[in-house]
Amino acid sequence: MSKAPVRVAVTGAAGNIGYALLFRIASGDLLGPDQPVIIHLVDIPQALDACRGVVMELEDGAFPLLAGTQVSSDPEGSFGDVDVALLVGAKPRGPGQLRADLIRGNGPIFVGTGKAIDENAAKDVKVLVVGNPCNTNALIAKSQVKRTDARNYTAMTRLDQNRAMAQLAARSGAGVNDIKNLVVWGNHSPTMFPNWFGCTIGGKPATEVIDDSAWFEGDFLKTVQSRGKAIIEARGSSSAASAASAAIDHINSWATGNTTGDYVSMAVPSDGSYGVPEGLIFSFPCKITAPFQYEIAQGLELNDFAQAALKRSWEELQSEQDAVADLLA
Ligand code: NAD
Ligand code: LMR
Repeated sequence: MSKAPVRVAVTGAAGNIGYALLFRIASGDLLGPDQPVIIHLVDIPQALDACRGVVMELEDGAFPLLAGTQVSSDPEGSFGDVDVALLVGAKPRGPGQLRADLIRGNGPIFVGTGKAIDENAAKDVKVLVVGNPCNTNALIAKSQVKRTDARNYTAMTRLDQNRAMAQLAARSGAGVNDIKNLVVWGNHSPTMFPNWFGCTIGGKPATEVIDDSAWFEGDFLKTVQSRGKAIIEARGSSSAASAASAAIDHINSWATGNTTGDYVSMAVPSDGSYGVPEGLIFSFPCKITAPFQYEIAQGLELNDFAQAALKRSWEELQSEQDAVADLLA
């Protein structure tokens, strides 16, 4: 007997990331090859005609797992009974801007969206914020929680993990699958910390396989931390297909426990682990313990370099939090 469909909402469905995301959700990449989905395409009223055009294309894909679509701007139509909400709808930055520069423009979107989800979605809805600055936007949405579970409000650093793994694979000559436990800690910003000290390549410490600390602390760190900016400069607009792919990876790992390494990078509400102030949405190494259950990995050793990096990132998140204090419920 086939499974009951899962409802998945995508905000910003008419945008660039939305376009790269929707067809992969419909094809089963998000929740697995036997899981039917009903997709809610959510956008602002001016973009709903474009969403209807995308629906025609989804129909034309004849996806066996696509059990329905819904196009909406209103809270109930957007998030009614939704099980998974991918919050992409927000302005991207342009050349010369920092992601944090978007905070006063995009932050208010997540007040209304957070409220609409909390009032309409399934009680155990799982939320992934992609729209930037994603950690603090997730904090804003989470602050609206009265009924749903605050632990399920997460933000995306999986793209940063994927970028870091690709850099290590290229430098070492190993395959991406040989890179394990490369976890990005902190904010999705230039203070993010891809922790190579805890990572292995083909079962050996990464620092043994690539015996070049100047490269790790220099080129590697800078490339990962500034990859989004480099793509904007080269492409003229921000990453879209790789961002959509990372959103698929984040939810797929969470839903199924299929992880490329033992840990996955997820920005989740801090419970105070590793000294990170409680409540901030901070990227930690997470273990998927059961479908849609995660735990922050405990007891990992962090050297002085790593600890200083984490502190810089949580201090930055605290200042973002201060900048949106009026938006937090
Ligand atoms: P885009 O401009 O192509 O699309 C944005 C879409 O959001 C548009 O369709 C717009 O109408 C819609 N939108 C605006 N306000 C909305 C609202 N209140 N409700 C619903 N929809 C709304 O942008 P994009 O390239 O798809 O990027 C979207 C966001 O994702 C940006 O903020 C970008 O910076 C961010 N991003 C994050 C990561 C990450 O790793 N976390 C990676 C890439 C991009
Ligand atoms: C990225 O990392 O590619 C996105 O966050 C887009 C950006 O503004 O860098």
